[in-house]
Amino acid sequence: MNEHVQGAGGDPLFNPLSPDFIRDPYPHYERLRTLDTIHVTPFGQFVTSRHAEVSLVLRDKRFGKDFVERTTRRYGPEIMNEPVFRSMSYWMLQADPPDHTRLRGLVVKAFTARRVEDMRPRIQEIVDQAIDAVIDRGHMDLIEDFAFRLPVTIICDMLGIPEEHREVFYKSSRDGGRLLDPVPLSAEEIKQGNAGNLMAQMYFQQLFELRRRNPGEDLITQLVQAEEDGNKLTNEELTANIILLFGAGHETTVNLIGNGLLALHRNPDQLALLKARPELMEGAIEEFLRYDSSVQMTGRVTLEDIDDLGGVTIPKGETVLCLLGSANRDPAVYPDRPDRLDVTRQNVKPLSFGGGIHFCLGAQLARIEAEIATATLLRRLPDLRIDDVENPEWRPTFVLRGLKRLPASW
Ligand code: HEM
Repeated sequence: MNEHVQGAGGDPLFNPLSPDFIRDPYPHYERLRTLDTIHVTPFGQFVTSRHAEVSLVLRDKRFGKDFVERTTRRYGPEIMNEPVFRSMSYWMLQADPPDHTRLRGLVVKAFTARRVEDMRPRIQEIVDQAIDAVIDRGHMDLIEDFAFRLPVTIICDMLGIPEEHREVFYKSSRDGGRLLDPVPLSAEEIKQGNAGNLMAQMYFQQLFELRRRNPGEDLITQLVQAEEDGNKLTNEELTANIILLFGAGHETTVNLIGNGLLALHRNPDQLALLKARPELMEGAIEEFLRYDSSVQMTGRVTLEDIDDLGGVTIPKGETVLCLLGSANRDPAVYPDRPDRLDVTRQNVKPLSFGGGIHFCLGAQLARIEAEIATATLLRRLPDLRIDDVENPEWRPTFVLRGLKRLPASW
Protein backbone atom coordinates (compact mmCIF):
# COMPACT_ATOMS: atom_id res chain seq x y z
CA MET A 1 0.00 0.00 0.00
CA ASN A 2 1.26 3.43 -0.84
CA GLU A 3 -0.98 6.47 -0.53
CA HIS A 4 1.13 8.56 -2.83
CA VAL A 5 2.05 6.19 -5.62
CA GLN A 6 1.40 7.80 -8.98
CA GLY A 7 1.67 6.59 -12.52
CA ALA A 8 4.12 7.77 -15.15
CA GLY A 9 3.78 11.52 -15.68
CA GLY A 10 2.46 12.03 -12.12
CA ASP A 11 -1.17 11.13 -12.87
CA PRO A 12 -3.05 9.37 -10.07
CA LEU A 13 -3.12 5.57 -10.28
CA PHE A 14 -6.85 5.33 -9.74
CA ASN A 15 -8.95 8.13 -11.21
CA PRO A 16 -11.91 6.12 -12.49
CA LEU A 17 -14.02 8.96 -13.89
CA SER A 18 -11.25 10.51 -16.00
CA PRO A 19 -11.96 10.27 -19.75
CA ASP A 20 -8.79 8.25 -20.30
CA PHE A 21 -9.81 5.69 -17.68
CA ILE A 22 -13.36 5.43 -19.05
CA ARG A 23 -12.01 4.92 -22.58
CA ASP A 24 -9.64 2.12 -21.56
CA PRO A 25 -9.27 1.19 -17.88
CA TYR A 26 -7.02 -1.82 -18.53
CA PRO A 27 -3.55 -0.18 -18.61
CA HIS A 28 -4.54 1.57 -15.35
CA TYR A 29 -5.48 -1.76 -13.79
CA GLU A 30 -2.19 -3.28 -14.82
CA ARG A 31 -0.30 -0.50 -13.05
CA LEU A 32 -2.40 -0.98 -9.92
CA ARG A 33 -1.82 -4.76 -9.91
CA THR A 34 1.92 -4.35 -10.28
CA LEU A 35 2.73 -1.08 -8.49
CA ASP A 36 0.23 -0.78 -5.66
CA THR A 37 -1.78 -3.94 -5.07
CA ILE A 38 -3.77 -2.45 -2.17
CA HIS A 39 -4.12 1.16 -3.23
CA VAL A 40 -5.70 3.83 -1.00
CA THR A 41 -7.86 6.46 -2.73
CA PRO A 42 -8.12 10.13 -1.69
CA PHE A 43 -11.45 9.15 -0.08
CA GLY A 44 -9.67 6.54 2.08
CA GLN A 45 -11.02 3.48 0.24
CA PHE A 46 -8.77 0.42 -0.12
CA VAL A 47 -8.65 -0.75 -3.75
CA THR A 48 -8.02 -4.42 -4.60
CA SER A 49 -7.04 -5.20 -8.19
CA ARG A 50 -5.54 -8.71 -8.18
CA HIS A 51 -7.73 -11.78 -8.62
CA ALA A 52 -6.62 -13.30 -5.30
CA GLU A 53 -7.70 -10.38 -3.10
CA VAL A 54 -10.83 -9.48 -5.09
CA SER A 55 -12.05 -13.05 -4.92
CA LEU A 56 -11.29 -13.37 -1.22
CA VAL A 57 -13.06 -10.14 -0.24
CA LEU A 58 -16.23 -11.16 -2.13
CA ARG A 59 -16.44 -14.52 -0.34
CA ASP A 60 -15.07 -13.90 3.16
CA LYS A 61 -17.61 -13.27 5.95
CA ARG A 62 -15.33 -10.68 7.56
CA PHE A 63 -16.39 -8.34 4.74
CA GLY A 64 -19.99 -7.13 4.40
CA LYS A 65 -22.07 -4.23 3.13
CA ASP A 66 -22.90 -2.17 6.25
CA PHE A 67 -24.58 0.29 3.89
CA VAL A 68 -26.10 2.81 6.31
CA GLU A 69 -22.96 3.08 8.41
CA ARG A 70 -20.68 3.35 5.36
CA THR A 71 -22.87 5.94 3.63
CA THR A 72 -23.36 8.02 6.75
CA ARG A 73 -19.62 8.09 7.28
CA ARG A 74 -19.11 9.36 3.74
CA TYR A 75 -21.90 11.94 3.53
CA GLY A 76 -22.99 12.69 7.12
CA PRO A 77 -26.07 11.55 9.08
CA GLU A 78 -28.59 13.57 7.06
CA ILE A 79 -27.97 11.47 3.96
CA MET A 80 -30.49 8.80 4.92
CA ASN A 81 -33.25 11.43 4.60
CA GLU A 82 -32.56 11.58 0.86
CA PRO A 83 -35.09 9.27 -0.82
CA VAL A 84 -32.60 7.73 -3.22
CA PHE A 85 -30.19 6.67 -0.43
CA ARG A 86 -33.02 5.56 1.80
CA SER A 87 -34.35 3.39 -0.98
CA MET A 88 -30.92 1.87 -1.70
CA SER A 89 -30.56 0.96 1.97
CA TYR A 90 -33.39 -1.59 1.46
CA TRP A 91 -31.82 -3.26 -1.59
CA MET A 92 -30.77 -6.87 -1.09
CA LEU A 93 -27.61 -5.82 -2.93
CA GLN A 94 -26.74 -3.56 0.03
CA ALA A 95 -28.02 -5.82 2.81
CA ASP A 96 -26.17 -8.17 5.15
CA PRO A 97 -27.61 -11.37 6.62
CA PRO A 98 -30.19 -12.00 7.96
CA ASP A 99 -32.05 -9.33 5.93
CA HIS A 100 -30.14 -10.26 2.80
CA THR A 101 -31.04 -13.94 3.13
CA ARG A 102 -34.72 -13.12 3.64
CA LEU A 103 -34.98 -10.68 0.71
CA ARG A 104 -33.03 -12.85 -1.74
CA GLY A 105 -35.03 -15.91 -0.74
CA LEU A 106 -38.26 -14.22 -1.83
CA VAL A 107 -37.21 -13.83 -5.48
CA VAL A 108 -34.54 -16.45 -6.11
CA LYS A 109 -36.98 -19.01 -7.57
CA ALA A 110 -37.81 -16.74 -10.51
CA PHE A 111 -34.15 -16.87 -11.60
CA THR A 112 -33.30 -20.58 -11.43
CA ALA A 113 -31.50 -22.09 -14.43
CA ARG A 114 -34.66 -24.03 -15.33
CA ARG A 115 -36.93 -20.95 -15.29
CA VAL A 116 -34.46 -19.02 -17.37
CA GLU A 117 -34.05 -21.86 -19.91
CA ASP A 118 -37.82 -21.73 -20.42
CA MET A 119 -37.49 -18.09 -21.49
CA ARG A 120 -35.37 -18.90 -24.58
CA PRO A 121 -38.23 -18.79 -27.12
CA ARG A 122 -39.42 -15.41 -25.81
CA ILE A 123 -35.86 -14.03 -25.89
CA GLN A 124 -35.45 -15.25 -29.47
CA GLU A 125 -38.74 -13.62 -30.45
CA ILE A 126 -37.71 -10.22 -29.05
CA VAL A 127 -34.30 -10.36 -30.74
CA ASP A 128 -35.90 -11.26 -34.09
CA GLN A 129 -38.42 -8.44 -33.76
CA ALA A 130 -35.64 -5.93 -33.09
CA ILE A 131 -33.81 -7.03 -36.26
CA ASP A 132 -37.04 -7.14 -38.32
CA ALA A 133 -37.69 -3.52 -37.36
CA VAL A 134 -34.42 -2.25 -38.86
CA ILE A 135 -33.30 -4.79 -41.44
CA ASP A 136 -34.49 -2.80 -44.46
CA ARG A 137 -32.84 0.35 -43.21
CA GLY A 138 -29.27 -0.87 -43.65
CA HIS A 139 -28.07 0.77 -40.46
CA MET A 140 -28.89 0.99 -36.74
CA ASP A 141 -27.55 1.96 -33.37
CA LEU A 142 -26.62 -1.42 -31.85
CA ILE A 143 -27.25 -0.05 -28.36
CA GLU A 144 -30.56 1.78 -28.71
CA ASP A 145 -32.17 -0.31 -31.49
CA PHE A 146 -30.82 -3.72 -30.52
CA ALA A 147 -29.04 -4.38 -27.20
CA PHE A 148 -31.29 -2.18 -25.03
CA ARG A 149 -34.74 -3.46 -26.02
CA LEU A 150 -34.11 -7.08 -25.09
CA PRO A 151 -33.25 -6.85 -21.38
CA VAL A 152 -35.83 -4.10 -20.79
CA THR A 153 -38.58 -6.19 -22.39
CA ILE A 154 -37.58 -9.30 -20.46
CA ILE A 155 -37.48 -7.60 -17.07
CA CYS A 156 -40.83 -5.90 -17.87
CA ASP A 157 -42.24 -9.38 -18.66
CA MET A 158 -40.86 -10.81 -15.43
CA LEU A 159 -42.17 -7.98 -13.28
CA GLY A 160 -45.51 -7.93 -15.09
CA ILE A 161 -45.32 -4.35 -16.33
CA PRO A 162 -48.30 -3.92 -18.70
CA GLU A 163 -47.43 -3.50 -22.40
CA GLU A 164 -49.07 -0.09 -22.57
CA HIS A 165 -46.76 1.30 -19.85
CA ARG A 166 -43.50 0.17 -21.46
CA GLU A 167 -42.76 2.86 -24.01
CA VAL A 168 -41.55 5.25 -21.30
CA PHE A 169 -39.04 2.63 -20.12
CA TYR A 170 -37.72 2.12 -23.65
CA LYS A 171 -37.15 5.85 -23.87
CA SER A 172 -35.69 6.28 -20.37
CA SER A 173 -32.31 7.94 -20.15
CA ARG A 174 -30.32 5.29 -18.23
CA ASP A 175 -28.67 7.98 -16.13
CA GLY A 176 -28.85 6.16 -12.78
CA GLY A 177 -25.41 4.59 -13.07
CA ARG A 178 -23.56 7.31 -11.18
CA LEU A 179 -25.14 6.08 -7.93
CA LEU A 180 -22.79 3.11 -7.92
CA ASP A 181 -19.52 4.91 -8.66
CA PRO A 182 -16.96 5.19 -5.86
CA VAL A 183 -16.76 8.98 -6.21
CA PRO A 184 -19.26 10.87 -3.99
CA LEU A 185 -22.31 12.37 -5.68
CA SER A 186 -22.72 16.15 -5.97
CA ALA A 187 -25.79 17.85 -4.46
CA GLU A 188 -27.20 18.20 -7.98
CA GLU A 189 -26.70 14.48 -8.70
CA ILE A 190 -28.43 13.57 -5.43
CA LYS A 191 -31.34 15.82 -6.45
CA GLN A 192 -31.61 14.07 -9.81
CA GLY A 193 -31.36 10.66 -8.13
CA ASN A 194 -34.19 11.61 -5.74
CA ALA A 195 -36.41 12.78 -8.60
CA GLY A 196 -35.90 9.52 -10.54
CA ASN A 197 -36.41 7.44 -7.42
CA LEU A 198 -39.65 9.20 -6.43
CA MET A 199 -41.08 8.80 -9.93
CA ALA A 200 -40.27 5.08 -9.85
CA GLN A 201 -41.80 4.74 -6.36
CA MET A 202 -45.00 6.43 -7.49
CA TYR A 203 -45.27 4.23 -10.57
CA PHE A 204 -44.64 0.97 -8.73
CA GLN A 205 -47.01 1.79 -5.87
CA GLN A 206 -49.79 2.09 -8.45
CA LEU A 207 -48.76 -1.16 -10.07
CA PHE A 208 -48.76 -2.90 -6.65
CA GLU A 209 -52.34 -1.68 -6.16
CA LEU A 210 -53.28 -3.11 -9.56
CA ARG A 211 -51.70 -6.49 -8.75
CA ARG A 212 -53.39 -6.67 -5.36
CA ARG A 213 -56.72 -6.38 -7.19
CA ASN A 214 -55.67 -8.32 -10.32
CA PRO A 215 -52.99 -10.88 -9.47
CA GLY A 216 -50.82 -12.23 -12.30
CA GLU A 217 -48.08 -14.81 -12.76
CA ASP A 218 -45.35 -12.22 -12.29
CA LEU A 219 -42.75 -11.31 -9.68
CA ILE A 220 -44.57 -8.20 -8.49
CA THR A 221 -47.69 -10.23 -7.70
CA GLN A 222 -45.52 -12.72 -5.83
CA LEU A 223 -43.87 -10.01 -3.73
CA VAL A 224 -47.10 -8.12 -3.08
CA GLN A 225 -48.52 -11.37 -1.70
CA ALA A 226 -45.41 -11.86 0.46
CA GLU A 227 -45.90 -8.34 1.83
CA GLU A 228 -49.54 -9.08 2.68
CA ASP A 229 -48.47 -12.29 4.39
CA GLY A 230 -47.26 -10.25 7.35
CA ASN A 231 -43.64 -10.17 8.35
CA LYS A 232 -41.89 -11.36 5.17
CA LEU A 233 -41.12 -7.92 3.77
CA THR A 234 -42.13 -4.31 4.36
CA ASN A 235 -43.62 -1.97 1.79
CA GLU A 236 -40.37 0.01 1.59
CA GLU A 237 -38.36 -3.18 0.99
CA LEU A 238 -40.82 -4.28 -1.67
CA THR A 239 -40.60 -1.01 -3.59
CA ALA A 240 -36.84 -0.69 -3.29
CA ASN A 241 -36.12 -4.23 -4.46
CA ILE A 242 -38.42 -3.92 -7.45
CA ILE A 243 -36.52 -0.76 -8.43
CA LEU A 244 -33.25 -2.70 -7.96
CA LEU A 245 -34.42 -5.60 -10.12
CA PHE A 246 -35.65 -3.26 -12.79
CA GLY A 247 -32.34 -1.37 -12.93
CA ALA A 248 -30.05 -4.38 -12.50
CA GLY A 249 -32.07 -6.24 -15.11
CA HIS A 250 -31.25 -3.89 -17.93
CA GLU A 251 -28.37 -1.49 -17.21
CA THR A 252 -25.93 -4.39 -17.18
CA THR A 253 -27.07 -6.78 -19.89
CA VAL A 254 -27.32 -4.05 -22.53
CA ASN A 255 -23.64 -3.37 -21.89
CA LEU A 256 -22.63 -7.04 -21.97
CA ILE A 257 -24.12 -7.26 -25.47
CA GLY A 258 -22.66 -3.91 -26.57
CA ASN A 259 -19.17 -4.45 -25.14
CA GLY A 260 -19.09 -7.98 -26.58
CA LEU A 261 -20.03 -6.80 -30.08
CA LEU A 262 -17.43 -4.06 -29.95
CA ALA A 263 -14.72 -6.49 -28.80
CA LEU A 264 -15.59 -8.91 -31.60
CA HIS A 265 -15.45 -6.25 -34.28
CA ARG A 266 -12.14 -4.99 -32.95
CA ASN A 267 -10.83 -8.56 -33.37
CA PRO A 268 -11.92 -9.63 -36.86
CA ASP A 269 -10.20 -13.03 -36.57
CA GLN A 270 -12.35 -13.86 -33.53
CA LEU A 271 -15.47 -12.57 -35.28
CA ALA A 272 -14.77 -14.79 -38.30
CA LEU A 273 -14.11 -17.77 -36.04
CA LEU A 274 -17.39 -17.33 -34.18
CA LYS A 275 -19.35 -16.96 -37.42
CA ALA A 276 -17.77 -20.14 -38.75
CA ARG A 277 -18.24 -22.07 -35.50
CA PRO A 278 -21.45 -20.91 -33.75
CA GLU A 279 -21.08 -23.74 -31.24
CA LEU A 280 -18.34 -21.64 -29.59
CA MET A 281 -20.93 -19.02 -28.55
CA GLU A 282 -21.46 -20.15 -24.95
CA GLY A 283 -17.73 -19.95 -24.20
CA ALA A 284 -17.48 -16.69 -26.14
CA ILE A 285 -20.00 -15.05 -23.77
CA GLU A 286 -17.82 -16.00 -20.77
CA GLU A 287 -14.87 -14.50 -22.61
CA PHE A 288 -16.82 -11.27 -23.31
CA LEU A 289 -17.65 -11.09 -19.61
CA ARG A 290 -14.00 -11.55 -18.73
CA TYR A 291 -12.55 -9.33 -21.44
CA ASP A 292 -14.67 -6.20 -20.89
CA SER A 293 -17.12 -6.65 -18.03
CA SER A 294 -20.23 -4.49 -17.96
CA VAL A 295 -19.83 -4.24 -14.17
CA GLN A 296 -16.30 -3.14 -13.32
CA MET A 297 -16.39 -2.92 -9.55
CA THR A 298 -18.21 -3.69 -6.36
CA GLY A 299 -17.35 -3.00 -2.73
CA ARG A 300 -17.46 -4.27 0.82
CA VAL A 301 -16.82 -2.94 4.33
CA THR A 302 -14.52 -4.64 6.83
CA LEU A 303 -16.75 -5.98 9.63
CA GLU A 304 -13.69 -6.57 11.84
CA ASP A 305 -9.96 -5.69 11.81
CA ILE A 306 -8.20 -7.49 8.95
CA ASP A 307 -4.52 -8.16 9.67
CA ASP A 308 -3.39 -9.28 6.27
CA LEU A 309 -5.01 -8.48 2.95
CA GLY A 310 -2.26 -8.61 0.36
CA GLY A 311 0.23 -7.72 3.10
CA VAL A 312 -1.80 -4.80 4.44
CA THR A 313 -3.68 -4.29 7.71
CA ILE A 314 -7.16 -2.80 7.36
CA PRO A 315 -9.09 -1.64 10.43
CA LYS A 316 -12.76 -2.45 10.99
CA GLY A 317 -15.24 -0.17 9.23
CA GLU A 318 -13.14 0.65 6.15
CA THR A 319 -14.37 0.40 2.57
CA VAL A 320 -12.67 -2.11 0.27
CA LEU A 321 -13.25 -1.75 -3.48
CA CYS A 322 -13.02 -4.85 -5.69
CA LEU A 323 -11.95 -4.17 -9.28
CA LEU A 324 -13.70 -7.04 -11.06
CA GLY A 325 -12.51 -5.89 -14.49
CA SER A 326 -8.92 -5.94 -13.27
CA ALA A 327 -9.16 -9.37 -11.62
CA ASN A 328 -10.50 -10.69 -14.94
CA ARG A 329 -7.23 -9.75 -16.65
CA ASP A 330 -4.87 -10.89 -13.91
CA PRO A 331 -2.05 -12.92 -15.54
CA ALA A 332 -1.83 -15.00 -12.36
CA VAL A 333 -5.13 -16.62 -13.38
CA TYR A 334 -5.06 -16.07 -17.16
CA PRO A 335 -1.40 -16.64 -18.04
CA ASP A 336 -2.04 -16.79 -21.79
CA ARG A 337 -2.13 -13.12 -22.86
CA PRO A 338 -5.02 -11.92 -20.68
CA ASP A 339 -5.36 -8.71 -22.74
CA ARG A 340 -6.27 -10.70 -25.82
CA LEU A 341 -9.86 -11.64 -26.76
CA ASP A 342 -9.89 -15.39 -27.34
CA VAL A 343 -13.30 -17.01 -27.80
CA THR A 344 -11.73 -20.47 -27.49
CA ARG A 345 -10.02 -19.73 -24.16
CA GLN A 346 -10.44 -22.54 -21.63
CA ASN A 347 -11.25 -22.27 -17.91
CA VAL A 348 -12.72 -18.80 -18.10
CA LYS A 349 -14.33 -17.99 -14.77
CA PRO A 350 -14.85 -14.24 -14.75
CA LEU A 351 -15.67 -12.38 -11.54
CA SER A 352 -18.05 -10.12 -13.50
CA PHE A 353 -21.08 -11.46 -11.62
CA GLY A 354 -19.36 -11.11 -8.24
CA GLY A 355 -19.04 -14.01 -5.81
CA GLY A 356 -20.21 -15.19 -2.39
CA ILE A 357 -23.69 -14.50 -1.05
CA HIS A 358 -24.37 -11.55 -3.40
CA PHE A 359 -23.48 -13.52 -6.55
CA CYS A 360 -25.60 -12.01 -9.32
CA LEU A 361 -29.15 -13.26 -9.28
CA GLY A 362 -29.55 -12.58 -13.00
CA ALA A 363 -26.30 -14.20 -14.18
CA GLN A 364 -27.86 -17.06 -16.11
CA LEU A 365 -30.53 -14.82 -17.60
CA ALA A 366 -27.91 -12.30 -18.76
CA ARG A 367 -25.78 -15.06 -20.31
CA ILE A 368 -28.69 -16.48 -22.30
CA GLU A 369 -29.88 -13.05 -23.44
CA ALA A 370 -26.37 -12.21 -24.66
CA GLU A 371 -25.94 -15.60 -26.29
CA ILE A 372 -29.17 -15.43 -28.29
CA ALA A 373 -28.71 -11.74 -29.20
CA THR A 374 -25.15 -12.20 -30.44
CA ALA A 375 -25.75 -15.47 -32.29
CA THR A 376 -28.85 -14.09 -34.04
CA LEU A 377 -27.13 -10.88 -35.08
CA LEU A 378 -24.15 -12.74 -36.59
CA ARG A 379 -26.49 -15.09 -38.41
CA ARG A 380 -29.03 -12.58 -39.74
CA LEU A 381 -26.71 -9.66 -40.50
CA PRO A 382 -23.44 -11.41 -41.43
CA ASP A 383 -21.95 -8.39 -43.20
CA LEU A 384 -22.67 -5.91 -40.40
CA ARG A 385 -19.89 -3.38 -39.82
CA ILE A 386 -19.47 -1.03 -36.90
CA ASP A 387 -19.03 2.52 -38.22
CA ASP A 388 -16.18 3.52 -35.88
CA VAL A 389 -14.63 0.67 -33.90
CA GLU A 390 -11.65 2.75 -32.81
CA ASN A 391 -13.39 5.65 -31.08
CA PRO A 392 -16.85 4.65 -29.86
CA GLU A 393 -18.60 6.90 -27.37
CA TRP A 394 -18.51 5.47 -23.83
CA ARG A 395 -21.03 6.36 -21.13
CA PRO A 396 -19.34 8.51 -18.48
CA THR A 397 -19.81 6.00 -15.63
CA PHE A 398 -17.15 3.67 -14.29
CA VAL A 399 -18.87 0.84 -12.39
CA LEU A 400 -21.37 0.30 -15.19
CA ARG A 401 -19.15 0.16 -18.25
CA GLY A 402 -20.92 0.54 -21.56
CA LEU A 403 -21.36 2.47 -24.76
CA LYS A 404 -23.64 5.44 -25.34
CA ARG A 405 -24.20 4.40 -28.92
CA LEU A 406 -22.65 2.01 -31.42
CA PRO A 407 -23.78 2.85 -34.96
CA ALA A 408 -23.43 0.02 -37.48
CA SER A 409 -24.34 -0.61 -41.13
CA TRP A 410 -24.79 -3.63 -43.41
C1 HEM B 1 -24.14 -8.83 -17.72
C2 HEM B 1 -25.08 -8.64 -16.87
C3 HEM B 1 -24.89 -8.52 -15.38
C4 HEM B 1 -23.76 -8.31 -14.65
C5 HEM B 1 -22.32 -8.14 -15.18
C6 HEM B 1 -24.14 -8.27 -13.27
C7 HEM B 1 -23.28 -8.11 -12.21
C8 HEM B 1 -23.62 -8.24 -10.89
C9 HEM B 1 -22.67 -8.23 -9.78
C10 HEM B 1 -21.16 -8.01 -9.92
C11 HEM B 1 -23.37 -8.42 -8.64
C12 HEM B 1 -22.79 -8.55 -7.23
C13 HEM B 1 -22.47 -7.26 -6.59
C14 HEM B 1 -21.80 -7.45 -5.25
O1 HEM B 1 -21.27 -8.52 -4.94
O2 HEM B 1 -21.76 -6.49 -4.48
C15 HEM B 1 -24.76 -8.53 -9.01
C16 HEM B 1 -25.78 -8.69 -8.11
C17 HEM B 1 -27.10 -8.68 -8.48
N1 HEM B 1 -27.60 -8.72 -9.78
FE1 HEM B 1 -26.55 -8.71 -11.48
N2 HEM B 1 -25.50 -8.45 -13.18
C18 HEM B 1 -25.99 -8.63 -14.45
C19 HEM B 1 -27.30 -8.87 -14.81
C20 HEM B 1 -28.35 -8.94 -13.95
C21 HEM B 1 -29.71 -9.20 -14.30
C22 HEM B 1 -30.21 -9.46 -15.71
C23 HEM B 1 -30.44 -9.14 -13.13
C24 HEM B 1 -31.91 -9.32 -12.88
C25 HEM B 1 -32.85 -9.42 -13.74
C26 HEM B 1 -29.52 -8.89 -12.05
C27 HEM B 1 -29.86 -8.76 -10.73
C28 HEM B 1 -28.96 -8.71 -9.69
C29 HEM B 1 -29.37 -8.66 -8.29
C30 HEM B 1 -30.79 -8.64 -7.77
C31 HEM B 1 -28.20 -8.63 -7.53
C32 HEM B 1 -28.07 -8.60 -6.02
C33 HEM B 1 -27.94 -9.99 -5.49
C34 HEM B 1 -27.67 -10.02 -4.01
O3 HEM B 1 -27.32 -9.02 -3.39
O4 HEM B 1 -27.82 -11.12 -3.43
N3 HEM B 1 -28.25 -8.78 -12.57
N4 HEM B 1 -24.87 -8.44 -10.38
